[in-house]
Amino acid sequence: MQERIRAIGIRPELAYQECIRVGCGARFDIGDVLFECPRCGDLLDVRYDWSRAALPRSLKNFEGKWARQDDPLAFSGVWRFHELLPFAAREHVVTIGEGRTICRRADRVAKYIGLDEGRLFLQYEGMNPSGSFKDNGMTAAFTHALQVGATRAICASTGNTSASMALFSAVDGRIPGVVLVGSGKIAYGKLAQALDYGIRVIEVQGDFDTCMKRVKEVARSQKIYLMNSLNPFRLEGQKTIVYRILEALGWDVPDWVVVPGGNLGNSSAFGKAFKELADVGLISHMPRLAVINAAGADTLYRIVNEERLAWNGGRVDEARIAAFYERMHAENRRAKTIASAIEINRPVNLKKCLRALEWTGGIVEKVTDQEILDAKAQVGAGGFGCEPASAAGVAGARKLRAAGVISADERVVCVLTGHPLKDPNTTVAYHTKDDAQLATEYGAYGVRRAAYANRPIVVEDDPDKIMAAIRA
Ligand code: F0G
Repeated sequence: MQERIRAIGIRPELAYQECIRVGCGARFDIGDVLFECPRCGDLLDVRYDWSRAALPRSLKNFEGKWARQDDPLAFSGVWRFHELLPFAAREHVVTIGEGRTICRRADRVAKYIGLDEGRLFLQYEGMNPSGSFKDNGMTAAFTHALQVGATRAICASTGNTSASMALFSAVDGRIPGVVLVGSGKIAYGKLAQALDYGIRVIEVQGDFDTCMKRVKEVARSQKIYLMNSLNPFRLEGQKTIVYRILEALGWDVPDWVVVPGGNLGNSSAFGKAFKELADVGLISHMPRLAVINAAGADTLYRIVNEERLAWNGGRVDEARIAAFYERMHAENRRAKTIASAIEINRPVNLKKCLRALEWTGGIVEKVTDQEILDAKAQVGAGGFGCEPASAAGVAGARKLRAAGVISADERVVCVLTGHPLKDPNTTVAYHTKDDAQLATEYGAYGVRRAAYANRPIVVEDDPDKIMAAIRA
């Protein structure tokens, strides 16, 4: 494996893998396929010796690449920043044109959140080829998979990872895969994609956490390449969301970056991206990260705000985390939220997220499914729209604004992680069902009304009635 990596020009002294556990810190070659530290079982980082990297003097230097549309690596919104994730040589990069997403000022949504005009920006990651932010990570993981000669791939998913992996597998054609999803647990748009892209879909009678556990076992025993965000190369790709946000803001650091929290890959990647940029002097200060849980899937919220557990310079209280999960198991407490993308009990990147919160002075909030659906309708009415999990970020920003944690004049970026068409059922239900129907069908999620419903008007095929409906 190492021979192969050297042959393609990645020097082991430039990029390597390192265990995040303070006191272990074991190092491994970029060519090793690990996903967890073989010594202590903790998470791994991809690390770089920046003194050996070809870093630009200013982030502005990346802008020139926009002009080079004939170069697939310059066209990609991920690989345009290759110098900031230099673990692969050009010839191994697997790109399908991911990461060409838009960050837009959104004044109507700013008003809903309670921010001054011009202070809210929405980062639309749903504009990726598979309709979610996952493509940023998948391009990096597929690239690593090719580097190490993987022949098969696997993932567990609440839907978007499976859609993204299926798309890369289909377009690239070299790494067939299999996805495990919880039966009845993923939104229709996402299931439709995985089926259409022709990947093998296994519907497990369980939830995401069950699938994740099984996938880890299979990846280990069968040596199948793991595409979940436990894979540190996924997170290298997701760092570029931060670079594009900075680029859209003229390379100014915003006050807040708000992101929904599920398996906690994005929050971990964002923290790493900002920390690395600060370490090499490409940004002058850090923004604050706000990670938003759904109230029905609030493991991170409880660990941070109730258990008061923190990264603590790397000395995480593992025993208390274990006790927390044991209690959760004993109480038979299972995640339940209409935002199915983030219906997760045990986020695999928990510790990296705690680290990101420490690096950024970050905070965690939670929002109800009612707040999520109302915020989603507002994002739709005031922008391009998003799927429910993405709206958790906007609902969270509104709550933090109301509590005075975020001020009206601060610059806030909410990352909208998935496209509105991912979950059409929820959207149509919100806009068409009356309060009684909503309470019957979604009451179990605490959803009882649709304050921002845009109700269709049903009329007979009669010109007068149609005119009356138009005038109404
Ligand atoms: N938003 C969307 C639309 C997602 O699909 C996910 C995760 C998240 C937010 C949470 O992101 O894990 O980085 O905290 N979806 C995964 C999946 C779990 O399988 O598609 P995170």
